[in-house]
Amino acid sequence: MSGSDTISETDLPVEVQRLIEQKGNCWPYLPLLYEEAKKAETILEIGVGAGRSTKTLLCGCRDGRGGLLRSIDWNRAPATREAAENIRNMGINKYWDWIQRDFFDMPDEWFTKHPVDLVWIDIGASAGRSHYEMVRKCSLSLKTGSRLLLHNICHNPQARQDLFCFIEPGGYEHEERLELNGLGIITKI
Ligand SMILES: C[S@@+](CC[C@H](N)C(=O)[O-])C[C@H]1O[C@@H](n2cnc3c(N)ncnc32)[C@H](O)[C@@H]1O
Repeated sequence: MSGSDTISETDLPVEVQRLIEQKGNCWPYLPLLYEEAKKAETILEIGVGAGRSTKTLLCGCRDGRGGLLRSIDWNRAPATREAAENIRNMGINKYWDWIQRDFFDMPDEWFTKHPVDLVWIDIGASAGRSHYEMVRKCSLSLKTGSRLLLHNICHNPQARQDLFCFIEPGGYEHEERLELNGLGIITKI
């Protein structure tokens, strides 16, 4: 997988360069998200928050294959509504479907019926729910060769443990990136 170390910042669109400069939360992984989104036809994101990753993924959709990003976020934070407004103003909302629900209320069948090329999970501890359950549900959307990226594996060692536990029976390749909050990457084989 190409990492931010192999992607020159000058190759990124100015919107993504600005998001990186803000150095908020997941910034070391924004070049990777942009490059992965360019290649994808369908993407699933869990957690919009202030919209840094959402905007980056949408720029990748715009500049690449014109893919569709589905983001699940229950919309409780004012910053998320502001992010949605910014996304409209940036003209990238045509690549976006925002599903305003509790992720854990989404039935397993929904994930099975919506296969994706890329999953990005960034909802923190979410009221104490396990990362194993987050990964398990999202894995139902993975096709062979699709990747699932789990943010915060350094910030939250239990998240890393849960990811290991999930892949232990096999069927996945695994990599890690350890900048800032950390990223676990699994690829379905
Ligand atoms: C850390 S923020 C996401 C940050 C974002 N990826 C970014 O780059 O700015 C986590 C988001 O997940 C949402 N969230 C947490 N638990 C959730 C749940 N169970 N269902 C839906 N959204 C949830 C929160 O409201 C918040 O907007």
